[in-house]
Parts: sequence; C-alpha cells; structure tokens
Amino acid sequence: METTDNRIKNVVILGGGTAGWMTAAYLGKALQGTTTITVLEAPAVPRIGVGEATIPNLQSAFFDFLGIPEEEWMRECNASFKESIKFVNWSTPGAGESTPRLRADGKPDYFYHAFGQLPNHDGIPLSHYWYNDHVNGRTDRDFAFACYPVTPAMDAHKSPRRLDGTRVASYAWHFDANLVAAFLCKFAVEKQGVVHISDQMTEAVQDERGFVTALKTKDGRTVEGDLFVDCSGFRGLLINKAMAEPFIDMSDHLLNDSAVATQIPHDDAANGVEPFTSAIAMSAGWTWKIPMLGRFGTGYVYSSKFASEDDATAEFSKMWGLDPKNTDFNKIRFRVGRNERAWVKNVVSVGLASCFVEPLESTGIYFITGALFQLAKNFPNLDFDPVLIKQFNAEIETMFDDTRDFIQAHFYYSPRTDTPFWQANKELYLAEGFQEKVAMYKSGMVVNMPIMEEGGYYKNFEAEFRNFWTNNNYYCVLAGLGVLPDRPMPALAYRPESVAGAEPLFAELRRKQEALVESLPSTYEYLTHFHGK
Ligand code: FDA
Repeated sequence: METTDNRIKNVVILGGGTAGWMTAAYLGKALQGTTTITVLEAPAVPRIGVGEATIPNLQSAFFDFLGIPEEEWMRECNASFKESIKFVNWSTPGAGESTPRLRADGKPDYFYHAFGQLPNHDGIPLSHYWYNDHVNGRTDRDFAFACYPVTPAMDAHKSPRRLDGTRVASYAWHFDANLVAAFLCKFAVEKQGVVHISDQMTEAVQDERGFVTALKTKDGRTVEGDLFVDCSGFRGLLINKAMAEPFIDMSDHLLNDSAVATQIPHDDAANGVEPFTSAIAMSAGWTWKIPMLGRFGTGYVYSSKFASEDDATAEFSKMWGLDPKNTDFNKIRFRVGRNERAWVKNVVSVGLASCFVEPLESTGIYFITGALFQLAKNFPNLDFDPVLIKQFNAEIETMFDDTRDFIQAHFYYSPRTDTPFWQANKELYLAEGFQEKVAMYKSGMVVNMPIMEEGGYYKNFEAEFRNFWTNNNYYCVLAGLGVLPDRPMPALAYRPESVAGAEPLFAELRRKQEALVESLPSTYEYLTHFHGK
C-alpha cells in the first residue's frame, strides 16, 4: 500500500536575529534537504544585537553539528575567548566601580565562575576536598584559585590556547552578534538553500483551527508554510499576538527589566584583552563587560523599580568615564519569563520570542541551541502530534526555570544590602526545588553531580541539557559569594586516605597553574596573531 507523505514541506522562520539565523542553519542541517526553509526578516526592525557572550557548548552542540570549524566562524565574527565570568564587587557596598574593592578579609572583591568540570578523587569532586582543607585551616586559597588550573592565568589575561592552537582550558567565546547573524545567513542561504525574504510581516493568516497558514507582508507577499518558527524577538508576533499564548512574567524572581548599553574602544596593546566576561555589581543591578579586539561591549542591567533611566545612565557613564551627551546608548526594556507554552499548534517560539532571563550567565544563545536541539528531536508531521509538542514544551520549561533559579540565587545570596535593590532581592521567594539544592550544598553534599567527566560533558548535549548547572557551578557562585557549606561532607571523616590522596592533586594543580602563567601567550597576542591584525 502506498503511504501518503505526511511530512512538513515548508518551514517559515519569522525574524533574522541570532535566533532566526541559528534556527535556519540548524534546521537546514537537521532536516537534510527534505524541507523548504524560508526566513522572513524586516531590515527596518533592528535586531537586539547585544547577545555577545556565550558558553562552551556553542561549538560542540551548534557549530560542530553544522560542520563549521571553530577557526572559520571565529575569524568572521571578530570572536575572542571567554574562560569564565568574573564577578566584581558582589560582596562590598558602593556604586559601580570596575576595579574590585577590598572585602572585609582584605582580599579583592571578585570571584570567577569558571567553565569546566572539576576532577573527582575517589568519586568525590575536588571542591569537597578543598572545603575540608579550608575548614581545617590547610588552605586559605579561594575556591576557584584552589581548584581550577587556569585561574591565575585568567588573572594574568593569558589565552586559553597556545600559539600553535593547542587548547589548555574549557572556554566559550565573545563575538559580534551582527557578524554572527550575517555569517549564519550566508551559510544558510549559500550552502543550505534557505530562502531569505527581506520584508515586514503585517499579518498572520490563520485557518479555522487557529493554525497559521501564511504571513502577509508590507510589500504584498503571502508567505505560506506548514510550520512557523517565531523568532521575532520580544514582540512574539506569532506566539503571543497571533496565537495569544500568555507570557508568564517572572519579575517576582528577577527584578531587572532594563539595560543601557554601549561599546567602548579599548587600547588592547596597552591594557591587554581579558579572557572572560565581567559582571560588575552596581547600585540597582550589574554591568556586563565583554571584551573583543579593539573594543568591549558593556551594558548596565538594572531594575526600573530602583533606578530611573537617567540614574542608570549616570552611574554607568561615571564608571566608564563616558560623557552621556556624546555617547551612543542602546536603551533596552526587556520582559523576564517565558511563554506558558513555547510551542502552540504549528507555531514554535525560539529566542527572545520564547523566553528571556537577564544575561548574567550568558544563557540566551544556549536557550536557542537547547530549543533547536529539542525541536529537531521532536520534529512533527503535518498531524502535529500533541505528544511531541507537550514533550518539547516540558523541556523548555525545565531549561528555563532551572536557569531562572540559578540566576536569582546570585542576587539572593550576595551579602550586599546597601541599596534598596539589593535589599529587595533578599525578600523574594526562591523556588522550593532550588532551596533544596542549597540545603544539600550546605550540608556538605554534591549538588547535581555531573554524570560524566569533562571530556565527555561538552560533547554530549543531551547529558549537559539534562543536568546543566552542576556541582562546580554551585561551588563557584555560592562559595564566591561567601556562602559556604555548614560542614564538610560527613563521609570524608571516614576517608583519611582519600583526603590525604587529594593533597598531591592540589600540589600538582598549583604547579600547573604556575606553568600556564609562565608559558601561555597573552590573549591579546593570541588574538592579533589569529585574526591577523
Ligand atoms: P532579535 O530582536 O535580535 O531579532 C528579531 C528579528 O525579528 C529581527 O531580525 C527583526 O527584523 C525581526 N522582525 C521583527 N518584527 C518583524 C516583522 N514584523 N516582520 C519581519 N521580521 C520581523 N544572550 C547571550 O547568550 N549572551 C549575552 O551576553 C546576551 N546578552 C544580552 C543582553 C541583553 C540586554 C538582552 C536583552 C539580551 C541578551 N542576550 C544574550 C540574549 C540574546 O540577545 C538573544 O537571545 C539573541 O540575540 C536572540 O535574539 P532574537 O533573534 O530572538 O531577537
């Protein structure tokens, strides 16, 4: 008997920002030429353009999937390295200052949230031996300095790659968001046959079931499709407007809803290039600093309840020595939360049209990759099986809510209470599931033990997606903010041999740290060599 072809024939993507072009390229590869893919993008509606810091799985889960080597896209997108997020002044009171103040213990107020999993010794992560040593007065080194080989090299602005290209650490990238969209557009159109229409959608045509059947445009086109991916940004033109799906506002967890951003030229030869994103605490939020060759992108993410646009611009300008009258600021208002359902009928939302949490942990582009991975896995036929849709929506919900809670914890557990903003964060409700994890951490247990060692972790997106914030993330952030376990892991008291056996690991780590500081090129040297500048 002949079976009818029930496959989706036309996918239409609305929007050509990072989400739109990542979706086009990813589906272009995943659907292996079986489906026509069209991107409808309105040049008159600007992209948000500020998503410039990433996490390590961007290569393994996205570019490797497309078959694009790291060197190729890095060159095209002015990419630089990111080995961690450096949190500055999250423990000491005061207005925005890009250099660390001194903490009460006399140490500078910063900590690194580094990438990479910690090694285990006798089945227990190094973090737990570090804390045991710390409590027993055997180490006065802060967590990231004691447990990660590259921390002092980051302090010295060294590159995570040697000049011959050898990698010595886990890292992610900073890049120019507009160059990435342009690069992916070229790749999708030239290599995958994606159709690119520059025109503005004016209306979504829906059938009697409420399914979208076509998009009408300003120039009089009718773009028909079977499946529509809404990448229209915060507007959510298809998911929130046409499908009327409610957006769940989560400002009861996260207070920040605005940003003032700009780009600042930087004398790299004189000052070097930092191989990390900085997150600098401010009076009513925090400021990102994303270094690239020749400039850094920066933006003050703040709560409009606690600072006016003028207040925020003034504090931000003062910190960087900018003249507010002669600076080109990008002033952004954002929504925090997610759609009740990311996928409704034949409309799937991806990127800012789906969900958004402030960029403190640079998760926006990861959310896009996660959604595409799940969409490709649950890709439907024309019958739009509700089981697939339900599964996809459940995955997105967990991905988002888990990250929301982890980010909220930064504000909740920061010891700062010096302004109404920092005080208000302490009064918010932290989700129960997250409180349980913190209780585990406090009792000396391992929270979300990674299910594989570092080598496999970043190569297996399924495993990473299922257990995204692991023990090392909890340790970096909580210990970095000064929140330590109440006691060492009780089991360690029964393992004197294991405890003794961890000491040579720490000694080896220290030797490795010194050797890396000695031998690595500076990030500036590596990047100028790499980009041929
Ligand atoms: P974006 O708004 O960029 O694109 C929307 C597209 O829709 C545009 O192409 C527009 O033309 C099109 N469009 C709109 N209306 C249309 C119409 N009627 N017809 C046709 N086309 C239409 N993420 C991250 O990973 N790291 C980071 O450091 C940051 N930092 C950051 C800071 C701030 C302040 C914000 C708000 C966000 C971030 N992000 C981030 C998130 C990141 O910016 C975001 O995930 C990506 O840029 C994806 O954006 P979109 O493509 O979804 O929307």
